[in-house]
Amino acid sequence: MDIDNTLLLPNSEHKSDIKTPFLIGVAGGTASGKSTVCKKIMIQLGQADMDQAQRQVVSISQDSFYRELTPAEKAKAKKGLFNFDHPDAFNENLMYDTLQEILKGRIVKVPCYDYRSNSLDHENKLTIYPADVVLFEGILVFYFPKIRDLFHMKLFVDTDSDTRLARRVPRDINERGRDLDAVLTQYMTFVKPAFEEFCSPTKKFADVIIPRGADNTVAIDLIVQHIADFLNNRSRYGSSTSIATNCTNVDH
Ligand code: ADP
Ligand code: C5P
Ligand code: MG
Repeated sequence: MDIDNTLLLPNSEHKSDIKTPFLIGVAGGTASGKSTVCKKIMIQLGQADMDQAQRQVVSISQDSFYRELTPAEKAKAKKGLFNFDHPDAFNENLMYDTLQEILKGRIVKVPCYDYRSNSLDHENKLTIYPADVVLFEGILVFYFPKIRDLFHMKLFVDTDSDTRLARRVPRDINERGRDLDAVLTQYMTFVKPAFEEFCSPTKKFADVIIPRGADNTVAIDLIVQHIADFLNNRSRYGSSTSIATNCTNVDH
């Protein structure tokens, strides 16, 4: 398997000790607010400032599963000519295997993504410890059927495309080392068409659609309350029964 440094918990040979997390997928177009919504959920649940190993709720980005580019692809990416919004840009198998490991209650390490160099930062890996709830967010988390079927709950952050573009431009310039021309060219050439072809059609798989993204405090409060109820039930009744008792749309 293509996962390094994967460890079993010391006591995980006992089935009842295995912590199977409640896995929540968070999809939506670029700059719809997926990362911000996940951050808000973490903050409202008091998880954001906690030590990684102590967290009951963790958030992982699909960007950690971009596949490594060949030298020719890297040269294209530098000129804004590589399509990072196409499903082929992702390592589907590694994403699936990693989520499977997480569902088995194992520790995994995922690389952070460096948008400036368009590459994975293997020196800077995030250790994901077994948690009760795992948020997995990205533009195409519902695209791959095998991966889509792993989620216990699916959220789609639905923000209109003008707003998304207006937010993506300053973000990519300020945080991702891009210039205005490159951002707009990439958006028109790849991002917008790929959103329409691959991301937008996955909205139909969502259990909950969050209009206006992070502005929608009512929707975020409801989701936070649902997760808090799940965490309370799990601490009361243990880790093996609570997913089935808390979630009506679980199909595995
Ligand atoms: P995504 O992860 O879906 O690409 P982000 O959460 O990174 O989206 O949001 C894109 C940009 O818009 C970021 O710079 C973020 O700070 C900003 N942003 C997100 N939600 C809001 C909001 N409700 N109001 C203003 N700015 C926002
Ligand atoms: O956070 P967000 O959902 O916007 O991240 C996904 C976006 O990141 C994609 O729309 C893709 O165009 C962009 N991206 C990029 N450069 C990379 C990797 C991803 O512009 N090297
Ligand atoms: Mg993001």
